[in-house]
Amino acid sequence: MAKEAVFCAKLLHFVWELGKMATVILVWMWARRPGKEWNMSEFRGSQNYVASEELMRAVNIAMVLQKPLLIKGEPGTGKTMLAEAISQALGKKLIIWNIKSTTKAQDGLYVYDVVQRLYDSQFGGEGVDDIAKYVRLGKLGEAFTAEEQVILLIDEIDKADLEFPNDLLWELDRMEFHIPETGETVTARHRPVVIITSNAEKELPDAFLRRCVFHYIEFPDKELMAEIVRVHFPDLDDKLLTQALEAFYRIRQMPQIKKKPSTSEIIDWLRALVHEGVDPKRVVKEVPYLGVLLKKNEDMDALRRAWR
Ligand SMILES: Nc1ncnc2c1ncn2[C@@H]1O[C@H](COP(=O)(O)OP(=O)(O)OP(=O)(O)O)[C@@H](O)[C@H]1O
Ligand SMILES: [Mg+2]
Repeated sequence: MAKEAVFCAKLLHFVWELGKMATVILVWMWARRPGKEWNMSEFRGSQNYVASEELMRAVNIAMVLQKPLLIKGEPGTGKTMLAEAISQALGKKLIIWNIKSTTKAQDGLYVYDVVQRLYDSQFGGEGVDDIAKYVRLGKLGEAFTAEEQVILLIDEIDKADLEFPNDLLWELDRMEFHIPETGETVTARHRPVVIITSNAEKELPDAFLRRCVFHYIEFPDKELMAEIVRVHFPDLDDKLLTQALEAFYRIRQMPQIKKKPSTSEIIDWLRALVHEGVDPKRVVKEVPYLGVLLKKNEDMDALRRAWR
C-alpha cells in the first residue's frame, strides 16, 4: 500500500514537472512567434523585411541616440518599407508624411483654417471665438501628441525645396513647436523614432545632416537578395530562383543598361514568372516578361543585342 502511495506521489510529481516544462516551452514559443521580436526595443528585421547587419545597427543606434535616421539608396531598395518593418517589429504605430514638391515644413506642424473660421463667423457658426477649433495638426504634430511612441516616416524629403529640411531643424531637435494663434506649445509626449528617406535628387543642407544618423542601403548581393525574395515567395522553386538571380545580376552588371532593375523589379518579375509557370530553363536564355525588369526601350534593345 505504502509502495503504491509513493508511486502515485512520484507519478503526480512527474506530471506536475512535465506540465511546468510544457508551459515554459509554450510561453517561449509565443514570445518568439513570427513578427514579434524577443527584445522589443531592438530592430532585427521583420517577418517580411530582410535587413543587413549594417542597416540593423544604423536603426538601433539612431534609436539609442534619439536622432532621425536618414536613409538613402537606389529606388526600390526598401527605404520606405524599412519604416513599415520597424513599426511592425517594434509594435509601434507608423505615421507617414509623404513629401511632394509643394510640401512646406509648416504643413507637418499644423494648419490654421482661417477660411472656415471666416465662413462660420459670417454664417453664424458656433464657437467662432475658439481658435483651437480651427487648428488641425499635421503629421509631425500628430506624432508629437500621440499617446505612445510612434514611428514617423518622412518619405522622400528631397522632393521638397531646399528650405524644407532647414525649416524643420528646430522641431526635429527640440521635438516641439509653437502655435502663435492659440499661444500653445506642442511638445512631444514621447520622442518619435524618425525615419527620413531620400533618393538624392537634391543635396541636403549640412546643418540638417549634422542632426541625423545616415545610412546608405547598399544594393544586396546575390545571397541577401535570395533571402529577400524568400520572404516574398517562401515556396519558390530553387531552380527558378537561381536562374532568375543569374539573369538579374547579369543584366545589372551590363554597363549599357541605364536604368538598372532593382529589388522591387526582381520581386515583380518572379511574381510574373511564377504566375505564368515559366520553365526555369527559359529564364536566362529568353528573359521572359522583360518589361517587368527594364523600363527604357534603349535598355531593352541593348539587352537583346547583348543576349543574341
Ligand atoms: N530588404 C527587403 N526585404 C523585403 N522586401 C524588400 C526589401 N527591399 C525591397 N523590398 C521589396 O521592394 C519593394 C520596394 O521597396 P520600397 O518601396 O521600400 O523601396 P524604396 O527604396 O522606398 O523605393 P523608392 O526610392 O522608389 O521609393 C517593397 O515593396 C518590397 O517588396
Ligand atoms: Mg520609397
